[in-house]
Amino acid sequence: MGKIMNARQIMNARPRRSCLYMPGSNAKALEKARSLPADVVLLDLEDSVAPDAKEAARAAVAAAVQGGGYGRREVIVRINALSTPWGREDIAAAGIARPDGILAPKVESGDEVVALDDAMTEAGFADEASLWVMIETSRAILNLAEIAAAAKATRLSALVMGTNDLAKEMRARPGADRAPFHAALSLAVMAARSEGLAAIDGVYNDIADAAGFEAECRQGLAFGFDGKTLIHPSQVDACNTIFAPSVEEIASARALIAAFALPENAGKGVIKVDGKMVELLHLEQARRVVALAEGISQIA
Ligand code: COA
Ligand code: MG
Repeated sequence: MGKIMNARQIMNARPRRSCLYMPGSNAKALEKARSLPADVVLLDLEDSVAPDAKEAARAAVAAAVQGGGYGRREVIVRINALSTPWGREDIAAAGIARPDGILAPKVESGDEVVALDDAMTEAGFADEASLWVMIETSRAILNLAEIAAAAKATRLSALVMGTNDLAKEMRARPGADRAPFHAALSLAVMAARSEGLAAIDGVYNDIADAAGFEAECRQGLAFGFDGKTLIHPSQVDACNTIFAPSVEEIASARALIAAFALPENAGKGVIKVDGKMVELLHLEQARRVVALAEGISQIA
């Protein structure tokens, strides 16, 4: 499965700061997403589409993907679970339309990841296509290690928090600090990192509260997330700014890389830059910051 691992690693160099959901049944939104500065567009067939509208939404999303025009945006279709009457047909339709990948809801085990990956293969998806899964149930949190480990043999490449469903299941009442989710958020990031996967934070429901939204983006960044799922175009710009490395961060990363590259530092594991100790682990961090900044500058 080395081929899949390599593809995943390449894909994960991509910025996933802003991942905007839209109902597959909302034609205006599918169109508008072609011009919004979101890194990822999540075309939803699941919770935002009513049962009576599922089939029309599936056809509309397939047509939108085939119509193209999303440019450098990563296009991901959120399917219904395989256990629902719609899941299999959603994957089959996506396999024909060929988005960059699919996002599967309510995944709770490694076996489910394997079943989804097999269904993608059957539907004609390339090895390079991505499988993203929602982490949004108590059981998923308890099985995070097993879910992430399924990446070794599948297209799994991102874990996406579904905090609304998680709150409902836990009967949690999160406030602005999201204290009831701290364990789950942190474990999900660790599971993602243990397998080189992207980690995307949950949505912020109060569209009118820009300050609260920005605070939650910063909190997600502090937890280690690569980006955040969004529900409205007005959330994209702030999210992109907060999850991008700052000008200062990029400058100090470049300075650190340059310092390690000096002939007198060749072969050294630890050096001093601007009076501070830096080790090879900081060099790796700096390279990641620069790679992300370069990925972002290719978009801008
Ligand atoms: N993606 C793309 N475009 C969107 C959008 C989204 N998520 N949400 C709104 N828009 C568009 C609208 O179509 C409208 O376009 P227009 O200017 O061409 O008319 C414009 O942005 C302004 O929308 P607004 O009137 O502020 O929002 P609304 O009242 O129409 O819709 C929601 C509000 C919450 C219903 C809508 O934002 C939405 O459906 N969000 C996504 C929900 C979702 O996918 N949930 C699943 C995951 S939690
Ligand atoms: Mg959900």
